[in-house]
Amino acid sequence: MATIPQNEARGNFGSLMGFVMAGAGSAIGLGNIWRFPYMTGENGGAAFLLIYLLFVVAIGVPVLFAELAMGRASQRNPVGAFTVLAPGSSWGWVGGLGVLTGFCILAFYSVVAGWTLGYLGMALSGTFAGPVDAERSGAIFGDFVADPAMAVGLCILFLTITAVVVRGGVQKGIQRTTSVLMPAFFALLVLLAGRSLTLEGAEAGVSFLFAVDFSKITPTVVVQALGQALFSLSLGMGAMITYGSYLDRKASMPLAGASVALFDTGIAILAGLIIFPALFASGADPSGGPGLVFVVMPTIFDAMPLGGVFAVAFYLLLATAALTSTISLLEVVVSYLVDERGIGREVAVWGTTAACAALAVPSALSLGAVSGLSELPGVGMGFLDLQNALWGNYALSFGALMICLFVGWRWGVQPALDEIGASGQPLPAGAVWGALVRFVCPVAVGGLLVYIVVTQNYF
Ligand code: PHE
Repeated sequence: MATIPQNEARGNFGSLMGFVMAGAGSAIGLGNIWRFPYMTGENGGAAFLLIYLLFVVAIGVPVLFAELAMGRASQRNPVGAFTVLAPGSSWGWVGGLGVLTGFCILAFYSVVAGWTLGYLGMALSGTFAGPVDAERSGAIFGDFVADPAMAVGLCILFLTITAVVVRGGVQKGIQRTTSVLMPAFFALLVLLAGRSLTLEGAEAGVSFLFAVDFSKITPTVVVQALGQALFSLSLGMGAMITYGSYLDRKASMPLAGASVALFDTGIAILAGLIIFPALFASGADPSGGPGLVFVVMPTIFDAMPLGGVFAVAFYLLLATAALTSTISLLEVVVSYLVDERGIGREVAVWGTTAACAALAVPSALSLGAVSGLSELPGVGMGFLDLQNALWGNYALSFGALMICLFVGWRWGVQPALDEIGASGQPLPAGAVWGALVRFVCPVAVGGLLVYIVVTQNYF
């Protein structure tokens, strides 16, 4: 296939650094700080971390390069990428499923992102002043999420902020935000980990995170770890296809991809080093569910000088990190509507945002505001938890499987490797990558999904 020229009007991340910042901006977010500790806590700690890391290396990174290559080679959104790289085929639906997945993830992600705004407000107004133990912090969280107007309002506010940025287009919106935010966020996290690790009783948290108990490994733990590896790297639904299409051909894709994967995984581990020591020090329950981070963090701020200031900085940076992720989720849907459906950008942005807000309402109300949504009959979890598992674990796993099958067996490993190395720097161990994409990932992910369906061990 002839190389598709890059179109300036499409928008392009000016430099390698610009792409890494935006890619890391998409990858780093609530997935690292909120979802990773909550999944790890629910799934046995170190055992989960071990499998998660294994999946990042053996499946996440290969899929990341597969997506980036598809995006840059096709210069399209997820649906267009499949139809351009396999003309006349029906692969486009995989991209369509990705767009749908992005939409549905955005609808629960924005609920949690709204919480970060609420917590920012509480930090500013001194709600966490005075001694804060796990019990008081849990009560603050419980009251906060049970307020329906607050939960829905903040989520809609967050979606609106996302829409305003995405409306402005790729380069201006995303790149500027991330290049300032990321370094600051990283520095703050290192500091918080330092405080948490030196709390009395912190060792229990460290061994929870690193001392593997192999008996904790079950098929559901494995699926959740796979889902988390993909979710955290923004894979399986086309975000990295879209971003790959914006990466300059002169920029090294191997370097760009590796940097994003390293930053993202490093920040997740750092979040674990913040949450679990403090959690055990304060005696909270590791399997506390989606509220975990929100319950634990105020106890850390309480235990440090200038805690109130750090709290404000933390929620502000977390909200911004979440924003650079919601931008990428919305961007996938919008670039599809604009490129494939010929809808104007403005209409696509606001239409998607409104529809997403509607789907977000039941998630926003599922942590106490409406009891029927907190514990769905027959599922044993709340609406937000269910969305998180369905789209965040299953849809992304399925999407990653299809992307591997597509690149490995339809488009081809060689054209993909050519695109990855287009800047002149090839992917090291390209043959290994090819084998992972063609055989290892499909067998592992496909086998796991089939096993789950056969045994009906979904959650
Ligand atoms: N990776 C993002 C995070 O960790 C979430 C995300 C998932 C973004 C999928 C885009 C696509 O917060």
